[in-house]
Amino acid sequence: MKFKIIEVPKIEDPRGNLSVIEKDVIPFPIKRVYFIYDIPTGAERGGHTHKHQKSVLFAVNGSFDVILNDGDQSYLISLNTPNKGLFIPNGYWRELKNFSSGAVCLVISSDEYDENDYIRDYDVFISELKNKYP
Ligand code: TYD
Repeated sequence: MKFKIIEVPKIEDPRGNLSVIEKDVIPFPIKRVYFIYDIPTGAERGGHTHKHQKSVLFAVNGSFDVILNDGDQSYLISLNTPNKGLFIPNGYWRELKNFSSGAVCLVISSDEYDENDYIRDYDVFISELKNKYP
């Protein structure tokens, strides 16, 4: 499965715009929503992969870059529009950086929090991929 941008509706209004994330636009049943905010200048997040969990990330305010790595290639995706999210399947190494001031990252997740689903060591990630696809 490959990562992809998911666009959700934007209802424009002179009083402010409204976007909606309905369950059917997310490619998995939603189990958890969390958000990252108050991010200091220069901070970086992520630095892990998930064995099973899938997620969709939205920059609901501001912007940031997501660097995805499938063990073979690296991809840089800039999120800077509240109504365009990034679907990240399991098995991608992810890093989040270049957060703008006031950026808020909303994460929709396929699973509840489980530390056992994380691989936080890049070398372990690479060697697990090699075991899977020798
Ligand atoms: P982590 O997923 O590593 O954050 P990021 O990928 O955004 O850098 O989580 C950071 C810490 O927060 C880690 O100690 C686990 C904890 N945490 C929870 O307790 N529940 C959650 O749902 C999440 C996402 C993290």
